[in-house]
Amino acid sequence: MEALKKLGTERMEIQKFKPEDAGEVLEDLVEVLVDCVNRGSGISISFYPPLDPARARQFWLDKFEDVARGKRILLVAREPQSRRVVGTVMVEFPGVDNQPHRGDVQKMLVHGDFRRRGIGSALMKALETASLEAGKTLLVLDTLLEGDAEDLYLQLGWQRVGEIPYFVRGPQGQYATTVFFYKNLLEE
Ligand SMILES: CC(C)(COP(=O)(O)OP(=O)(O)OC[C@H]1O[C@@H](n2cnc3c(N)ncnc32)[C@H](O)[C@@H]1OP(=O)(O)O)[C@@H](O)C(=O)NCCC(=O)NCCS
Repeated sequence: MEALKKLGTERMEIQKFKPEDAGEVLEDLVEVLVDCVNRGSGISISFYPPLDPARARQFWLDKFEDVARGKRILLVAREPQSRRVVGTVMVEFPGVDNQPHRGDVQKMLVHGDFRRRGIGSALMKALETASLEAGKTLLVLDTLLEGDAEDLYLQLGWQRVGEIPYFVRGPQGQYATTVFFYKNLLEE
């Protein structure tokens, strides 16, 4: 794996996933996704709790295939000593002729035991760098209104476009509003 960034205070390494790393990181990624969903963040990240680890595993295996096909970049945050993956984020490329410069940011996840230490921010900054290196200059994302991540994106200079009510639905049938953001990496 390629080391993209080391966090001074947390000594966490942000690395770009390569398909040959699959066996090394798969189970940690499963744990991060299951943890985030089962702690109650599921509505903002597509799944309802309790998330079956087998379903989470298949989710990541599909994403690994996308990486192998050049359809997305996946980053992982790892503890240098244990090598455990405690956070992740990825960007998917639309794959259409008229948007060769654009990416959709997805699944910004930090394990619940490791939050508020700057890992999410470091992952996003590293993803912006990796996207630029891949020739992607415009990134788009959406997140739950007043969810964990809204302030994080604002702090990193993302432009808040607006809200769509009733965009997602929770396990009890309740609707929630989604907020859309973009960042033009050429305006940094
Ligand atoms: C969102 C998430 C990735 C943030 O990860 P993190 O490592 O805790 O983020 P950081 O430590 O870099 O936080 C940076 C800033 O974002 C804001 N922030 C982060 N978590 C927040 C929360 N739960 N509530 C309010 N603001 C929050 C704060 O301003 C924070 O700065 P501060 O700690 O100095 O106050 C993490 O909470 C998570 O995995 N949540 C569940 C999954 C999810 O909702 N992902 C977003 C999908 S779009």
